[in-house]
Amino acid sequence: MMPFLPLLACIFQLTSTAFGATAEQWRGRSIYQILTDRFALPAGADPTTCDTGAQTWCGGTWNTIRENLDYIQDAGFTAIWISPVNQNYQGPRTAYGDPYHGYWMADITKLNDRFGKAEDLKALIDELHRRDMYIMVDIVVNNVMATSTEPDYSSYLFNDAAFYHNYCPVKYGNPDSERNCWMGDTRVTLPDVDTSNPSVIRAYGEWAKAFVEQWGVDGFRIDAAKHVEPDFWPKFCGPAGVFCIGEVYGDDVDLAASFQGPKALDSVLNYPMYGALQKAFMIPGSQNASALEEVLGEERRKFKDLTVLGNFLENQDLPRWHNSSVDPQSLYNAMAWTFMTDGIPIVYYGQEQGFSGIADPHNREPLWPSKYEKGASYRLIQQLNQLRNFLVRTTPEWLVDPVKVLSVNEFAIVIQKGYVVSVLTTIGSPPNGKATINAKTSFKPSTAMTDIITCHQWVIGASGLIQVEYSKGGVPIILVPSPDLAGSGMCGESLNVQRGGRVKGGLVSESESGVRGMREKRGGRGRWMGWGLGAFVGWALM
Ligand SMILES: *[C@@H]1O[C@H](CO)[C@@H](O)[C@H](O)[C@H]1NC(C)=O
Ligand SMILES: *[C@@H]1O[C@H](CO)[C@@H](O)[C@H](O)[C@H]1NC(C)=O
Repeated sequence: MMPFLPLLACIFQLTSTAFGATAEQWRGRSIYQILTDRFALPAGADPTTCDTGAQTWCGGTWNTIRENLDYIQDAGFTAIWISPVNQNYQGPRTAYGDPYHGYWMADITKLNDRFGKAEDLKALIDELHRRDMYIMVDIVVNNVMATSTEPDYSSYLFNDAAFYHNYCPVKYGNPDSERNCWMGDTRVTLPDVDTSNPSVIRAYGEWAKAFVEQWGVDGFRIDAAKHVEPDFWPKFCGPAGVFCIGEVYGDDVDLAASFQGPKALDSVLNYPMYGALQKAFMIPGSQNASALEEVLGEERRKFKDLTVLGNFLENQDLPRWHNSSVDPQSLYNAMAWTFMTDGIPIVYYGQEQGFSGIADPHNREPLWPSKYEKGASYRLIQQLNQLRNFLVRTTPEWLVDPVKVLSVNEFAIVIQKGYVVSVLTTIGSPPNGKATINAKTSFKPSTAMTDIITCHQWVIGASGLIQVEYSKGGVPIILVPSPDLAGSGMCGESLNVQRGGRVKGGLVSESESGVRGMREKRGGRGRWMGWGLGAFVGWALM
């Protein structure tokens, strides 16, 4: 028997795909968030019947996600996060419609048959792993769902009132109440599981371990993580053995940071930075980029690891960016921040289509009316992912090199992470002859830099200075030393996939060969200028 054991182990390694990915492995990923019901329809379904306001089922499934993965992978994403997969409430329609979103837990031990069969979920996960993409599943353990404050507990995993806190409505802002009371209202209420009960802790830990073993998911997005004591999470995520990123809603950096670490979660969604992004880039708004510097500084002091936080502009609970801020450059500049700063970028489906629904339920639009076209937002995301994936493949230390704010004023902010300098403006699209920003980079004078969005090439001025003017409008500018783009497939460079090797991470595919743009380099002395995508960019040589 003995000689066969190593062989078996070897076969197991070859056949088991990405399984139980760690925070380290997720750091280099880029996530596309999906509400399964709203992403894609099966062939032959009527595309005109989905009414977001009516809060009803629209027909997306795990199979239709699998059938449309090219759309996600072509945008450069290397992971997806899907809405909860477990069985939801099945009673009559409620005051808030149907549980199409998946967050109304009835039996966490079963799959939600509205989204497909077990083999469909398995096929989706296998196909993602075949593409070297990760899957993160949304997990709801804080609560179950009921239509009465005195529900029949027998159908839940925890089948007795003793496993729940007594009913009381949550008083938001009061941490004890948030942890012990019930969310929702009396028509749709969310009975709060007592996650300090040792039997609950043990059963949830066993559930998490078995779930990951059965499905081979790579990560958990934890719903309402803030409503559970931080020290519960290691007892849940430990047995699961996967990266856990929690929802800790709100601007409070101290509170969010208290949920990251060995006594809590691997990571949280970066809500405090979302607040700063609104202040910086939304129009109308304070258009004050100092908020980014301020929150970044506070986060650096308080979080254990900024490089695994989830950076986002939209999700199923927030108004679409374009509902509050219609200027396209407001979205583009903010989006560039989420990809080029410390942390994991997350794009909520429909953001790449410029959707503009206000908050729940209007921010859960079906994606199909977009016809999955690859317009300006989609193409910008492609470029941002292409650069980030290239950096992950070739220079993985880029991920942990802390982002620095080089300069900030009333028009713009300049940040540098590794050898990438991003110049992001708050002014929006209209030209502003007075708007300008200077920054001192770490590059030597005369270093040739390529803006990966326009593919224009520029040169660093004396003392490492750059200057950007916005007399042609406000676009994001992302500068990389031109020689470092060799092998990236960007801006006329060939794509060299052989440089991968070192990191398990970045996606390599034909679709990444991407943009081939114009190159230009102007020599000579004095002031060097050129045109970005409508922006006037000049490097002052002093
Ligand atoms: C911009 O925000 C910073 C930090 O949040 C604040 O100190 C400053 O006063 C704000 N500037 C304006 C013009 O509102
Ligand atoms: C914001 O959302 C509401 C509801 O979806 C919609 O009526 C309104 O037109 C949206 N605003 C914009 C600017 O798209």
